[in-house]
Parts: sequence; C-alpha cells; structure tokens
Amino acid sequence: MLPSVIVVLTFLSCASGENPAMQVILTNKGLQYGKHAGAGLIQDKLENMTLPDITGDVDIKIGKVHYTLTGTTITKCDFPEPSVEFFNATGFKTSTSGLSVALAGEWRTRFGIIHDGGSFNMAIFSVDVTSVVQLGRDSNGHLSITSMSCDAVVGDVDIQFHGGASWIIQRFVHHFKGKIKGKMESNICPAVTESIEKLEFHLQAMNVSFDVNEVLYLDLPLTGLPLIDASRLNLGLKGEFYSIKTPTEPPFKPQPFTMPEQPAYMLSVGVSEFTLNSASFGYYSAGLLQVLIDDSMIPPSSPVHLNTTSMGVFIPQLPKKFPDLLMKLQVYAKEAPLFSFQSGAAKLSAQIDVKAFAIEPNSTQIPLFKLGVDSKFNSKWWFADETLKGSVALDNITLTLESTEVGDFKVDGLQKTLSMAMKVAVLPKLNGELGKGIALPRMKHAQLVNSVLKMEEGFMTVSSDAKLLMEDTRFN
Ligand SMILES: *[C@@H]1O[C@H](CO)[C@@H](O)[C@H](O)[C@H]1NC(C)=O
Ligand SMILES: *[C@@H]1O[C@H](CO)[C@@H](O)[C@H](O)[C@H]1NC(C)=O
Ligand SMILES: *[C@@H]1O[C@H](CO)[C@@H](O)[C@H](O)[C@H]1NC(C)=O
Ligand SMILES: *[C@@H]1O[C@H](CO)[C@@H](O)[C@H](O)[C@H]1NC(C)=O
Ligand SMILES: *[C@@H]1O[C@H](CO)[C@@H](O)[C@H](O)[C@H]1NC(C)=O
Ligand SMILES: *[C@@H]1O[C@H](CO)[C@@H](O)[C@H](O)[C@H]1NC(C)=O
Repeated sequence: MLPSVIVVLTFLSCASGENPAMQVILTNKGLQYGKHAGAGLIQDKLENMTLPDITGDVDIKIGKVHYTLTGTTITKCDFPEPSVEFFNATGFKTSTSGLSVALAGEWRTRFGIIHDGGSFNMAIFSVDVTSVVQLGRDSNGHLSITSMSCDAVVGDVDIQFHGGASWIIQRFVHHFKGKIKGKMESNICPAVTESIEKLEFHLQAMNVSFDVNEVLYLDLPLTGLPLIDASRLNLGLKGEFYSIKTPTEPPFKPQPFTMPEQPAYMLSVGVSEFTLNSASFGYYSAGLLQVLIDDSMIPPSSPVHLNTTSMGVFIPQLPKKFPDLLMKLQVYAKEAPLFSFQSGAAKLSAQIDVKAFAIEPNSTQIPLFKLGVDSKFNSKWWFADETLKGSVALDNITLTLESTEVGDFKVDGLQKTLSMAMKVAVLPKLNGELGKGIALPRMKHAQLVNSVLKMEEGFMTVSSDAKLLMEDTRFN
C-alpha cells in the first residue's frame, strides 16, 4: 500500500546545508489522492494473484497425512480504502483494516500409498495491516524511505474442501485455519518491507541532476530532511542551474522563503529568484549572452538600417566620416540579467553593451562607438488551458554613450527609436508566442491539472492538482 502512496513522491523528488531555492509541498489532499490511486493499483494487482503452495502434515491419529494446497489464486478481493496520514514529523502511517479475500485452489494429500485430491475455496477475513515509514535524505541528497514498523493481523480464515475424500480433511479445518493464519501474518510484513526496500532502491537510483538543454543542467538534491507536519510534507531542493561547460557558483546566494498554505491543491512548487538567476548566470558564464547584429537581420521594412547613411539621422558626423558603409553591432550582456519576483509580476533588468563598427568594402572593421543599454522589463505569467502564458512589457530603456571614436553625439533619438522598435516590433512578436502558451512538461506518471501561478516577493509558486496516468504507473 504505502509504496503506491509514495508514487506521488517519486516523480517529485528526483531530487546541503544551504537554503533551498526550490520547495515542493505535498498537501494532505495530494497524499489522499495518491493513496486512492495506489489502492486501486494494488487491488488490480491482487486480482488473479497466485499464492505460493502450502504444504504440511496433519495428524489423523492413525498416522500423518501429507498435504499440499497448490495453485491458490485470489478470486475476489474486497479491498477497503486504506487510511494514510503524515506521521511523527518524519513520515507516513498507513492502515488498512477489514481486508477480505476469497481464494480457490487444489488440494492434494498423500497417506502412505494413498493419493487423493480435489479443489478448495478459502476466505480470509478482517486482515488489518498498519505500516509506518520514515522519510529521510541520504548524503547525496536523495529522498530515502525506511520501514519503521509494520503490524499484520488476520482475523479469520474459512476453508471448504471439495472432491475426493474431502470430508476427511474437512474435519481438520482448524489445523488449516491456524496454519494459514500464521503463514499469512508472518508473510504480510516482510512483503510490505520488501516493497518499501524496492522503492528505496528506485529513489537511490534517481538522478538529482538533469540536463535541461545543451547549455544548462539543473541540480535538485534535497538540501535538508523532509519536513512533515499534520497537513503537509515539504521538500527543500537546491534548485540551481549550472552551465554544463563552465559550472561555477554565481556571486549571489539563495534567500530563505516561506511558501503559503495551499491546502486546496495537491501540491505546490516554489521557485525562488535565485533559481532563475542561476540559469541566467549559467548562460552568461557560458558566454552565450552575446550576438552579432548586421543589416541582414534588420527587417527590410524597417525605416532604420544598419549603415552609416541611415545612422546619420542620429549621429550627423557619421556619414561624413564614413560615407555609405554597412555597420555591424556587437551586443553582449555586461553581467548576467537579473530576475526579481514581486507581488503579481516578474521583473527583468539587463545591462547590455553595444559596440558599433563600420565595415570597409575590404571587410576591415572600424570601431565607431560603444553604448551602454540599461533595460527593464516587466512580465506577468498565468496558467490557462493547462499551458503557461505570459506577457512582457518594456518598463524603461536608457542609453548612455560609453566611448566614441567619431566624436560626441546625443543618444536621445537612438533611445526613442530603440524603445519604439521594442514596443512595436520585438515585444508584440514575443507576446504573440507567449500568448499561445508553453505546454507544461508531461511527466511519465502524472499530469498537472488546475494549475495556478502566483508571484510573491522573491519567489513564485505553482499550485496544482495532479492526475496519475494509470497505465504508466505499474512499476514495482
Ligand atoms: C482474472 O480471472 C478472471 C477469470 O479467470 C478473468 O475473467 C479476468 O479477466 C482476470 N483478470 C485479470 C486482471 O487478469
Ligand atoms: C518517530 O520518529 C523518531 C525519529 O524521528 C523515531 O526514533 C521513532 O521511532 C518514531 N516513532 C514511531 C512510532 O515510528
Ligand atoms: C542519470 O544520469 C546519467 C548521466 O547523466 C544518465 O546516464 C542516466 O541514464 C540517468 N539515469 C536516470 C534514471 O535518468
Ligand atoms: C542604407 O540604408 C538606407 C535605408 O535607411 C538605404 O536606402 C540605403 O541603400 C542603405 N545603404 C547601404 C550602403 O546599404
Ligand atoms: C581596407 O581599406 C581601407 C580603406 O579603403 C584601408 O585603409 C585599409 O588599409 C584596407 N585594409 C586592408 C587589410 O586591406
Ligand atoms: C527610466 O530610467 C531613467 C534613468 O534611470 C529615469 O530617469 C526615468 O525616470 C525612468 N523612466 C521610467 C518611465 O521609469
């Protein structure tokens, strides 16, 4: 039973001593859903399950009859909804009570040279199983699970033999009852423990680092022990992106954050500014936040082109010094762009340098000037139709002339034009794409439904319900 509850956790926790930059919360609602789905799976598994043979001897006063109960199959299983709760600040407790099973099989006896046989029906009533597991964290930051206690009690067993001289062994039904009850009771807990160990094995085998694309990987080990209270389980994860080629620590640290209670959703994921900024730093330190822009990249319809004549509008001396030459811009981030989350919005500020060159017909580049571009964007994000949508607006863009080889000039005109180009050309295109939405990644075992996104000071939360995909969840 319990392992199936943890199915919910295994796809969350793929996942040292520092503040977690991401947090995953499983609420009681999520726990109960996981249990319900798990109970269904177990019932499916129990149907038509074949039990191991039971052999023994029964003393019939004139000697011993050797018997075998074989081919015992579960024909019907009444599996009551188990209960599960967060327990003891460290784990879960699950209890199943009143489980009843009907079984059928073959009996065979041997008494001296006399062989006999037939069929039997068996009913096992009122099986109660209680299991407590503890969650922890291993030295590599994997979630770990251990069985703390297990109790199994079988209420009663009834058995009816048919065929052959079944009336003889039917008289010893008490013997069989005791034997089967004892065998069941001593087998249930080892089976439970075994499936918990299997689950632990799966957890240990899981990666806590994932390549996100060719550039970044995401590091997700647990930063501390799972925190459990009566209403939720909270996993703190490192949540840091690194450049695959140049993995270095960024010059900033994750700040602690407290996620609000969201008991109406099965789970919530909190992502701090740090996580996004580590991704930004990863791209920056991999040297990817730079681009060369030449005139071929400017849409033909644009009123401004990248040549000294066209730029003469903003820099009158330019076409006089370098008439009719094409230009090229080397654009690069001065430092990693910074994200900040505020109530209801995510802001991005980027400091960019632009070096402008004129290109002689023989391809020689002549440096012209260097501009600093300080830009601030404001974005909103939300879920609609299970896709993430967003819109980005320009807050402010400020140009400064940092150095020049062509003499001083005013940047106001350029600044206005750049701001206008952003507003009428770049952002509408971007917002068109964001409006179409970004599909959430589909996990192997589950799908998120009813997701909502909230921005808070320093972090954002995605709260969601999950739908387990049954056909995929059958793993041992
Ligand atoms: C279990 O056995 C019954 C009867 O043999 C069969 O109808 C049913 O499809 C089986 N169920 C599964 C899950 O194999
Ligand atoms: C409760 O947790 C502690 C460790 O945190 C453990 O020592 C104790 O055995 C647990 N109690 C039960 C009933 O599992
Ligand atoms: C874990 O990561 C390694 C190396 O990146 C990869 O080879 C392996 O397939 C991954 N294992 C799983 C279970 O994803
Ligand atoms: C420079 O751009 C203008 C449009 O602004 C265009 O008419 C002109 O042909 C361009 N000159 C060169 C050399 O590409
Ligand atoms: C390219 O042409 C310019 C002027 O047209 C000249 O000053 C420069 O020396 C030339 N460079 C090379 C590498 O030929
Ligand atoms: C844009 O930034 C400049 C310089 O930082 C500032 O003077 C101006 O007020 C800002 N404009 C807006 C609309 O925030």
